[in-house]
Amino acid sequence: MSETTLGTETPQAAAVPHPLDEAAVGAAVEQALAAIAAAANLEELKAARIAHTGEKSPLSLANREIGKLAKEEKAAAGKLVGPARGRLNKALASRTEELEAERDAQILVDEAVDVTAAPRRRRAGARHPLSILQERVSDIFVGMGWEIAEGPEVESEWFNFDALNFKPDHPAREMQDTFFVEPPEAHLLMRTHTSPVQVRSMLEREVPIYVLCPGKVFRTDELDATHTPVFHQFEGLAIDKGLSMADLRGTLEHFARQMFGADASIRLRPNFFPFTEPSAELDIWHPGAKGGPQWIEWGGCGMVHPNVLRAAGIDPEVYSGFAFGMGIERTLMFRNEVGDMHDMIEGDVRFSEHFGMEI
Ligand code: DAH
Repeated sequence: MSETTLGTETPQAAAVPHPLDEAAVGAAVEQALAAIAAAANLEELKAARIAHTGEKSPLSLANREIGKLAKEEKAAAGKLVGPARGRLNKALASRTEELEAERDAQILVDEAVDVTAAPRRRRAGARHPLSILQERVSDIFVGMGWEIAEGPEVESEWFNFDALNFKPDHPAREMQDTFFVEPPEAHLLMRTHTSPVQVRSMLEREVPIYVLCPGKVFRTDELDATHTPVFHQFEGLAIDKGLSMADLRGTLEHFARQMFGADASIRLRPNFFPFTEPSAELDIWHPGAKGGPQWIEWGGCGMVHPNVLRAAGIDPEVYSGFAFGMGIERTLMFRNEVGDMHDMIEGDVRFSEHFGMEI
């Protein structure tokens, strides 16, 4: 506002011209016209209007003086002051029109909407790719009529090892693999695999049992490109009358095709696990692998060991079962070409965004 008022004469400061003094009236008019012309916006023009045509402006005051003049002088004074005020009103009207047009044009510029601009969206957040993959795996088995089972992450040594037929001197029990929970006499640990949920499921459920058990597992590995001390597995368990390796194979092949496409297939190679007999290593023929179609080691599987069935109170003479277990991180790595474990656990949303569309 200070600039605005500086440019205009205050009525008090300007001398009131005598209504018959043509030069003085002319000077007042010139001054007013200059102020009107100089007004750069409607606010400044309003100030000029008040200063030069308002009640206390020199010309309004001069006009008022006319009343005090002698009769014969009034007409001459009126002819001088009247048109002078008329000129100012005209100048004001036209400057108002100009400035209003300028203001309207500016509003159009200021308030213009660029309909081609990218909208400012709030980030809704993305589910972690590991969660999405875990759900996808669960969905495939739920689609086959299986149930989802869960167990605790702090597990008793008995469920994690003994009930699964690990001998007391099995190397996996050793300190370098397992996080034991103190005090040692509590025999608690962070579960090293999801297999203890097999035993819990058999104890808690009625046969036949078809469960998938996804969850977090813990091992004393250093974090590097292919290891992390906390990772995820999913465990499958089927207990029924007359189940054989053929059922295991058929189930895993169907699962592999759901995950990797119709061209995927599986192969089983003999292996050893304490809790299955026979046991096998599961390889997947991955048609879309990064380096071209190839066999990739995916997990372990086998027929549930009779000792495990017995530990869970199931008669191995009547029932048989198969089981399998895979790592979710490992699956994501070769399924989605993730080269480094760090990317999965560091929580950088740019990593998750790559998977944002995959539901
Ligand atoms: N528990 C095994 C591991 O963590 C994986 C596994 C192998 C699970 C064979 C199974 C199985 O159910 O039958 O390495």
